[in-house]
Amino acid sequence: MKQELAEDLNPATVPPSVLAVPRYLEEVYWWAYVHPTAVRVFERQWLVNAILWGNFSRLRDAALDAMDLPPQGRLLQIACVYGDLTTRLAARMTGKTSLDVVDVLPVQLSNLQRKLCGHPRIGLFQRNSTALGYADDVFDRTLLFFLLHEQPDAVRRQTLAEAVRVTAPGGRIVIADYHGPSRMHPLYYLFRPVLALLEPYALDLWRSDIASWLPQQAGVRIESRRTFFGGLYQLVVLVRE
Ligand SMILES: C[S@@+](CC[C@H](N)C(=O)[O-])C[C@H]1O[C@@H](n2cnc3c(N)ncnc32)[C@H](O)[C@@H]1O
Repeated sequence: MKQELAEDLNPATVPPSVLAVPRYLEEVYWWAYVHPTAVRVFERQWLVNAILWGNFSRLRDAALDAMDLPPQGRLLQIACVYGDLTTRLAARMTGKTSLDVVDVLPVQLSNLQRKLCGHPRIGLFQRNSTALGYADDVFDRTLLFFLLHEQPDAVRRQTLAEAVRVTAPGGRIVIADYHGPSRMHPLYYLFRPVLALLEPYALDLWRSDIASWLPQQAGVRIESRRTFFGGLYQLVVLVRE
């Protein structure tokens, strides 16, 4: 696949992928993202909202607010998301900002292209989050919305290293994802086995702080953290130094 997909991301014309599908996507998430019917099943606002126990809009808006979009500059979203996250982000962009969205799966990029209806300042690119292929320090804002919990430890570490590397000094990295609730949370014992079965790496985020996957001497500081829905979700803002 060409690196620059923005002009020809018509699902009918997307050429075969040149990037290998990561093993964890094939083995764990084939039903959610890789299988040809996945988009048809999951691309429903009510369903993504239900998967987040009714918190999708709240988390989406909190993440977009936390991006504190600059009047001009380059934005990066690492991985497509079902629902209206990216169209809402696009609606907040001024005429002088541009957005790159990267994803490893052409089917997900095609789906997003359909939702964006050819937005002129948004480019879609097939990239692996572990090897983004951009120069250092090129983005003013980088968004990771519920990606890290899907990735095995070493992949998550590399994704964060890449997010930090491509974000410019003074730029922000906004992360929304799972977080470990207390044992008193009504869903603690109900949801834990569901995650263990369907999203096994997600429990890493129940156990450990996101900072533990940041590279040493990352040149990044944690500006803020918030938890949502009794601690089941978190929003972390990192600032590149
Ligand atoms: C952001 S995550 C989950 C978002 C959320 N759960 C939703 O409703 O869509 C899903 C996306 O991550 C992408 N993805 C997973 N691993 C990736 C990787 N290593 N590089 C780039 N994209 C990746 C998948 O292809 C998929 O489109």
